Amino acid sequence: MDKNNEKLIITGGKPLYGEIAVDTSKNAVLPILAASILNSGKTVLHNIMPITDAYNMLNILSTLGCTYKWENNDLHINCVNAHSWEIPQDLAKEIRSSIFMLGSILSRFRAAKVSYPGGCDIGIRPIDLHLKGLKDLNVKIKEEHGFIICDGTNMKGGNVHLDYPSVGATENLIMAAALTEGITEIRNAAKEPEITDLQNFINCMGGKISGAGTSTITIQGVETLKDCEYTPIPDRIIGGTYLIACAICGGKIRITNFLSEHLYSLIAKLRESGCEFNITPTYIDIECKQRPLTAQIIETLPYPGFPTDLQAPMTALQTISDGTCMIIENMFETRFKHCPELIKMGANITVRDRMAIIRGVSHLQGAEVNAMDLRGGAALILAGLAAKGTTVINNINHIDRGYFNVEEKFNSLGGDIQRIS
Ligand code: UD1
Repeated sequence: MDKNNEKLIITGGKPLYGEIAVDTSKNAVLPILAASILNSGKTVLHNIMPITDAYNMLNILSTLGCTYKWENNDLHINCVNAHSWEIPQDLAKEIRSSIFMLGSILSRFRAAKVSYPGGCDIGIRPIDLHLKGLKDLNVKIKEEHGFIICDGTNMKGGNVHLDYPSVGATENLIMAAALTEGITEIRNAAKEPEITDLQNFINCMGGKISGAGTSTITIQGVETLKDCEYTPIPDRIIGGTYLIACAICGGKIRITNFLSEHLYSLIAKLRESGCEFNITPTYIDIECKQRPLTAQIIETLPYPGFPTDLQAPMTALQTISDGTCMIIENMFETRFKHCPELIKMGANITVRDRMAIIRGVSHLQGAEVNAMDLRGGAALILAGLAAKGTTVINNINHIDRGYFNVEEKFNSLGGDIQRIS
């Protein structure tokens, strides 16, 4: 089957019922994979889904001299013989998270060379904060012909103040400091749960990091790390996508392997929409019996604010909600590319700069649409599941970057999605 020409065909209009487990978090796994090279040894990661972004990171680790194998859902990584500190350009272009490798490669080899990273086309996504922070750890950085070349010969712990709590920069700097002599403090650090997970993983290898989840993170550099086995956290964005799916289609579902504490910003909005919840520490029940009410205003913010990665799925929900909703996207400047596609399905949306005004219509209609990025693609699936008639989604390679076997997951809840090529 030619993966590039695959499409999803969705027959909409069915409510969702049943139980579904959330996969492990992509945004936790990617930095953890990057961090695995910190240890000149072996790592076992449990419950890892073979999504495209994970394979891209594993390809990068392979070119650096690491090996890996899957045993069921367990991923065994061996970085004993890692020897290279240069990420080939074609691989770095595939995935933005390759930038995390800068910190971990520098920590291990005291040198790194990487080209400017790729990933979803959702804005300019500069890396100035990453580079400024590395300079605070005494890394010398040259930028030549699209490559970033780092000399970490004289690296030492330092004080970093991030102008903005960037997730990637915080993770990168934690890794850079993990094996660097002295104490590093990162202030105005990002507080996302995936950062706490990275701290816990590195500490499982023998690292000395504290403070993740708050705005000050302290890293005491250690000389070496040791082998470890680790299970990353559940994916709050996938869990959130299921919650919004139930809200848009109606029905009642139980979501297991779900940490509600990571998603209160969404749960609060879905309560405003009229959904009912039964929340426990490890699973959540959601029931949505009526046409959703508008969420009125949604503004994306750093954690624990409303996550930008759920903005597109939430936009899909607002298209059929009763009332008008204003969505403000503060994080990424071009993250409304799903809106013209939703308009093809009958949505009433006006986009101005970083703001979308959505006037709810009584229903969407199936249409042929294009996934423009990962979360925008997820939004189109939700819209297709709720719409009258048939929806065809092209460019689903974007969706496969972060959702494994997405059609099987929704079909297990009573959706009707087929993958064809
Ligand atoms: C990570 C997530 C992504 C999520 C985002 C925000 C991963 C693999 N990706 O992306 O899914 O949408 O957090 O929660 O974990 N910025 C700068 N300079 C920098 C770095 C960032 O100006 O050096 C800006 C970005 O352009 C953006 C904002 O800061 O406007 C947030 O970016 P950041 O938190 O770094 O997101 P990512 O780590 O790229």
